[in-house]
Amino acid sequence: MQRTYIKELAGKVGEEVLVKGWVDVRRDHGKLIFIDLRDMSGKVQMVALPNHAEAHEIANTVRPEWVVEVTGKVNARPEKMVNKNEENGAVEIEMLSMSVLNQAETPAIDVRGDGMDVGEEARLKYRYLDLRRPRMQKNIRNRNKVMLLVRNILEKEGFCEVETPSLTVATAEGSRDFIVPSRIEPGSFYALPQSPQQYKQLLMSAGFEKYFQFARCYRDEDSRGDRQPEFTQMDLEMSFATEEDVQAVNEKAIIEVVQKLYPHKKIQEIPFPKISYKDAMEKYGTNKPDLRTDKNNPDLLAFAWIVDFPMFEKGDDGKWTFTHNPFSGTKPECLEDLMNKKNIEKIVASQYDIALNGYEMGGGSIRNHNPEALRKVLEIMEYSEEKIEREYGHMLRALGSGTPPHGGIAWGLDRMIMLLENEPNIREVIAFSKNGEGKDLMMGAPGKVSPEQLRDLRIEVKVKK
Ligand code: AMO
Repeated sequence: MQRTYIKELAGKVGEEVLVKGWVDVRRDHGKLIFIDLRDMSGKVQMVALPNHAEAHEIANTVRPEWVVEVTGKVNARPEKMVNKNEENGAVEIEMLSMSVLNQAETPAIDVRGDGMDVGEEARLKYRYLDLRRPRMQKNIRNRNKVMLLVRNILEKEGFCEVETPSLTVATAEGSRDFIVPSRIEPGSFYALPQSPQQYKQLLMSAGFEKYFQFARCYRDEDSRGDRQPEFTQMDLEMSFATEEDVQAVNEKAIIEVVQKLYPHKKIQEIPFPKISYKDAMEKYGTNKPDLRTDKNNPDLLAFAWIVDFPMFEKGDDGKWTFTHNPFSGTKPECLEDLMNKKNIEKIVASQYDIALNGYEMGGGSIRNHNPEALRKVLEIMEYSEEKIEREYGHMLRALGSGTPPHGGIAWGLDRMIMLLENEPNIREVIAFSKNGEGKDLMMGAPGKVSPEQLRDLRIEVKVKK
């Protein structure tokens, strides 16, 4: 017999079916044994009656989280037993036969509630159990729906998804890199990308014109509620595009995601308001203001574009440094100052962020496509000729090889889903997330490596206190 998914049972009253899944709960009522069965599509109540002796006997032995398959008859529940609050509340399976596909030890954590009362360490250590709870299933499945819809929207707009490398060199995004030792070239290291920034610009050089990618990014920084060392961006770049073009495509995509997948949510203002960085700082004291008219309403989404960021700021060493990344271009009216390295504090970048309910959901810019302009940025930051050639030589050459004007953006996908799912923390929307100290408690990462691995890499470890 072919398997029936639980969500299809309502249409099969009177039929015999084969269902498979996990025992959610078992209730003994004297001779009757009730089992709630759970599969990826839903939950249903099953009943074992003593007249089906074999099924009844097995039903007596099963425990929560055991994996079973059952053949049974789909019955309509008697009128007064119908539970209107439950999907499948109007049907029940009368068990005819049951077999156990796998047993389960008593679960280390309870997987039935929302998990808010279970310690985070235990939830992350037993993540495969934690993900069974309906809230986590919903978050991860809705994340998939958002990704699928965004892919479809961007495909219709002519974007091409391109994967870019994870083993690369340091990309200046302002955080620390995770580094990976090379075996073939002992003493050399790859860096994991903080974002695909350079690759996506090189794809503009390469003539793709419209690129996007759900990109894994890696930043060795302290974790917070809205920060993980490894996270996902919806990263996008467009050639021949103005700030308004980039914003329009993104705004349209975001509105479609909310309206199609979260129709109960309200976007406070369309088109999204635009606020200059200066005004935001003066008025709200932050560049990611929570603009909701009702700050307690998580179903209100107050998106805003924060625009016109300063291009440079003074670093701890007193030298000029970039505020976002070195590739951002200036506003056209500031280009002359950049080229003459004048009025540096007044140079405004063609940089925009998306603020959402007090979080920075995304950020991007129109880039410097003229190699001389990028060179001026690097010179203002007092980079040596040698550093410029070593770290930016390929970018300067690409920009000088017929690169069109271009710009883009990246959304923090985890942050976006966190806010759409009304979750307090991005860990709730990442299947296998790390804890506050950047550890994967389930896999035991980071971990020690074997002496053989170190020998292959010709690395000796001496940990300085
Ligand atoms: P930026 O560094 O602003 O821009 O990153 C874009 C967005 O990524 C999210 N984000 C994070 N999410 C979770 N954990 C983190 N550690 C983390 N760091 C950043 C934020 C942020 O707005 N290459 C540029 C984009 C561009 O210019 O096109 C970039 O990476 O939501």
